[in-house]
Amino acid sequence: MPPSPTTPPLTVLIVEDDANVRLGCQQALELEDIPVEAVASAEEAQRRLAGSGGASGGSGPAVVVTDIRLPGMDGLDLLRSLHAADPERPVVLMTGHGDVAMAVQAMKMGAHDFIEKPFSPDYLVEVVRRALDKRRLTLEVRELRDRLQNRQSIDARLVGGSPLMDRVRRLILDLGNSAADVLIHGETGTGKELTARCLHDASPRRTGNFVAINCGGLPESLFDSEIFGHEAGSFTGAGKRRIGKVEHANGGTLFLDEIESMPMPVQIKFLRVLQERSLERLGSNTAIPVDCRVVAATKVDLRALADRGQFRADLYYRLNVATLPLPPLRDRREDIPLLFEQFALQAALRHGRPVPEPDTARMARLMAYDWPGNVRELRNVADRCALGIESGFPSFGDSASAAPRPLADAVAAFERAMIADALRRHDHSLARAAEELQIPKTTLHDKIRKHEL
Ligand SMILES: Nc1ncnc2c1ncn2[C@@H]1O[C@H](COP(=O)(O)OP(=O)(O)OP(=O)(O)O)[C@@H](O)[C@H]1O
Ligand SMILES: [Mg+2]
Repeated sequence: MPPSPTTPPLTVLIVEDDANVRLGCQQALELEDIPVEAVASAEEAQRRLAGSGGASGGSGPAVVVTDIRLPGMDGLDLLRSLHAADPERPVVLMTGHGDVAMAVQAMKMGAHDFIEKPFSPDYLVEVVRRALDKRRLTLEVRELRDRLQNRQSIDARLVGGSPLMDRVRRLILDLGNSAADVLIHGETGTGKELTARCLHDASPRRTGNFVAINCGGLPESLFDSEIFGHEAGSFTGAGKRRIGKVEHANGGTLFLDEIESMPMPVQIKFLRVLQERSLERLGSNTAIPVDCRVVAATKVDLRALADRGQFRADLYYRLNVATLPLPPLRDRREDIPLLFEQFALQAALRHGRPVPEPDTARMARLMAYDWPGNVRELRNVADRCALGIESGFPSFGDSASAAPRPLADAVAAFERAMIADALRRHDHSLARAAEELQIPKTTLHDKIRKHEL
């Protein structure tokens, strides 16, 4: 597994009021290239930890080595509060000579280890190394568990077993873990918003808000106050102070839907927010820091729009740190049966109706259709089917907006989808799929190779 880009280096925090001992510990670890920080009191240690963000993600020092006897809050109290934040962070206690009873109590409270003063630098290094190893393991397990959970939730939400959808899911997992802003590009109904939500849930920001702005659905006059917020009375009609959507997305994800329709003047302001990572509410001069990840979605070729001067090129480049293209449904026809079954099942459950019977002729029509409205259109068809209304059903050649395709292409795409579906339903048994399709097994085998299934 490649190291995740969010993994910080593992550091040690020394808490010791005796300046000589503190310096000695620090130097012993530094000599071994172990990153170390040192503070003189438990209170200072707590401030340091609070400033390093949440503990559950493994941020902050990996190991804390603290003296038991400290002015103010003592080492045992610090141990207690450290464990409340993250019970798996190893804490090593330094005890004075003869403090055996205290050391025993500390171990009972869950201290990782204790060292009796005076100790040699080598011994400190050995104990700290062991604690760091333990921490590394804990963090690795956490990351694996997170990735597994993410994968399961993405698999459940983003339906489709085609190689193209596999690629989308892999990209979501990889990008979710990074801090990069993402531009999602896809035709209408391909799942841009769903993908943006999956990205948010696959990122360490999932505990923050997911805030969606439809850049096409807002009148320009309201744009500023909606996005940036305003102070009370900053313009006619601005009653109370309002927190803008960007501020609301602090610590989370800001989803800019239909980014291509963002008015030019707003684009300029937006670019400034992205660059400076801070904003000013309307009617205020105070800069408010914002820490949000931007995920933008577009149906058009934003680059071409920028080239024609209809979208700011600098904003385009800023947003386009990573691109996530969503393939149209007609390019992954083998996903159609699974999507249809899932949507029909959901609709049947929702409306308390029987689940529609599988119907080969119907499925053949669905797979031959070009789906200009993509997954959303398929979902509507499945809903109607579950309700027993099949009137508006697409069939061969129904698709008015589809580009004309040579017959050979259409036939090949259809053949591929039929075979993929038969294989899926028969658990990849060549024999049973061939029987259903009424072709010899060898022919099926050749076709599977031809279509790279
Ligand atoms: N791979 C998928 N698996 C399951 N459901 C999907 C998938 N892709 C899309 N959907 C569903 O299809 C519908 C349309 O998806 P979504 O709204 O995300 O598309 P969109 O690209 O944002 O569309 P538009 O461009 O029209 O805004 C939603 O109901 C969504 O849940
Ligand atoms: Mg959408």
